[in-house]
Amino acid sequence: MLKSANCGDIRESHIGTSPTLAGWVARRRDHGGIIFLDLRDRSGVVQVVFNPERSPEAYRIAEQLRSEWVVQLTGPVSRRPAGSENPAMPTGNVEVYAESAQVLNQCLTPPFYITDDVEVDESLRLRYRYLDLRRPLMLRNLELRHKVVKFIRDFLDARGFLEIETPILIKSTPEGARDFLVPSRLQRGSFYALPQSPQQLKQLLMVSGVEKYFQIARCFRDEDLRADRQPEFTQLDLEMSFVDQDDILALAEALYTQMVATVTPEKRLISPFPRLTYDEAMRRFGSDKPDLRFGLEMTDVTDLAKETQFRVFHTTIEKGGIIKGFVVPGGGSYVTQQVRDLEQAARDAGAAGLSHLRLRGSGLLGNLKEEDVVISAGLRMPIEWTRRLAERMGARPGDMILLMAGPSKQCNQWLSTLRNQMGQKLGLADPNLLAFAFVTGFPLFEWNEETKRWDSAHHPFTAPATGEEPLLEGNDMERIRSKAYDLVCNGMELASGSIRIHRPELQEKIFAILGYNKEQVQARFGHLLEAFQYGAPPHGGIAPGIDRLVTILTGASSIRDVIAFPKTQSGADLLFGAPSPVDAHQLRELGIRLTE
Ligand code: AMO
Repeated sequence: MLKSANCGDIRESHIGTSPTLAGWVARRRDHGGIIFLDLRDRSGVVQVVFNPERSPEAYRIAEQLRSEWVVQLTGPVSRRPAGSENPAMPTGNVEVYAESAQVLNQCLTPPFYITDDVEVDESLRLRYRYLDLRRPLMLRNLELRHKVVKFIRDFLDARGFLEIETPILIKSTPEGARDFLVPSRLQRGSFYALPQSPQQLKQLLMVSGVEKYFQIARCFRDEDLRADRQPEFTQLDLEMSFVDQDDILALAEALYTQMVATVTPEKRLISPFPRLTYDEAMRRFGSDKPDLRFGLEMTDVTDLAKETQFRVFHTTIEKGGIIKGFVVPGGGSYVTQQVRDLEQAARDAGAAGLSHLRLRGSGLLGNLKEEDVVISAGLRMPIEWTRRLAERMGARPGDMILLMAGPSKQCNQWLSTLRNQMGQKLGLADPNLLAFAFVTGFPLFEWNEETKRWDSAHHPFTAPATGEEPLLEGNDMERIRSKAYDLVCNGMELASGSIRIHRPELQEKIFAILGYNKEQVQARFGHLLEAFQYGAPPHGGIAPGIDRLVTILTGASSIRDVIAFPKTQSGADLLFGAPSPVDAHQLRELGIRLTE
């Protein structure tokens, strides 16, 4: 190699040796006759000294060096003079005296400084991603991602799993998003779809007798992008035969627990992972991906709200809605502006408004007096009611009660957004705690108001919960629970999976409820139904999203920071300029004519 040591590895133990280093000029300082250079490679930075008296040749080269030039140099390692050590740098006790130096390449003036603490517009970073990735923080993210994937491979290999690749050019694999389509040249007018996940392929591998499959799989979904979504992302896709829900959850828990201990031992987790049913998660936290690093649990107080004269509450209840809220500890002393900010946050979350009761003072609820309660308009009630409300919600003098009114689904959503913000604001969301939890017992179907049809809550291959199959004959689809489960962490859905249907007649029944006619089922899923007639074993699996996991483990502020070449919110690759128009002859070959 062009180097004998890495910059970031140089320590006192190297004193007396004379390594050859190669890397980029991170910084150059001219100190009246002596030039100091911070030389950076992937491992870190070391200080290099050029002294014109000791090495005039090398010094002359150092005079020309600019930011991000690529250099190779050789020289002895020595201890830094007393008082000039830099404890912030791992190499801060030593420096290298360059005796020879060579420019390997020059560099244009970079569009931004290659350091971690510089504020750069993200689109500029993405346009020059190769420079952005030179920043130590970004390289550390890539390093951690590598370690996570390596851990997963070793862990599953030791348990008898086979890593198997599945095709990227395939047929639609519905996961609830739009497909990316690829036109076929050889069969004009026909299209491949990129897999939204290898779901059906891994199920077919179970029919094949693979028994334990995994893949670090790329998935493609043309959906509206959010902070934790990318149009192409990576899953650890996993499937096992002859298992039930507990087997998959135990495997996932062991995988995550041991992975955290290995790759981010500084993080704490709650062990064993709590398990909540979907209904419990919705009731207590208003969300199926609750952040369990803090409490701020919610209480439904629709019955108590009925006793008030407040019109908003009454109209909501008449329309079948709910009144629900949570307690902000210490919120009793909030000033008007703080309450206004909360009301604004509630409106930003989509709510029409937010009611509150600030309980002043301290001590026992029984001592709370009328004049201790500061209340939002319309909610004035006898103190006895306020005491009952506070008791039900677990509020004490000194706290604030927040209440929202709305249709159950939306009300939970708004409250959950507010709860997460409150958790952050009150400093309750410890960044070093990984609050993993399993959410189980999801509904099998959810009503789609737009299409006026039932959709699968997870995907159509998910089995109904034990004993719930007869309910498929009835009319109360909403009530049917499934064998689907999620792994959540710090308010994010990290993984989803389910025990699958393995009997063709049950699968057909589900397709019928989802509104597919026989021809549609045959055209889209005929291959799967046919395979199930050839001895499909009971099976199930899970798919943890790798990008989201690494985002949480690194503490990155965006999923894009843990992907080497991510896309923007509008699905663009700013470095390559994709997507882009194609040549007219390419379209002609494919038999495609653009209409707009
Ligand atoms: P699901 O669609 O829930 O399940 O996806 C599983 C996990 O993949 C991650 N994920 C994403 N990450 C980044 N960007 C996206 N657009 C994105 N979409 C999903 C999440 C999510 O929890 N085939 C099933 C799994 C199964 O049943 O085994 C599936 O794909 O972390």
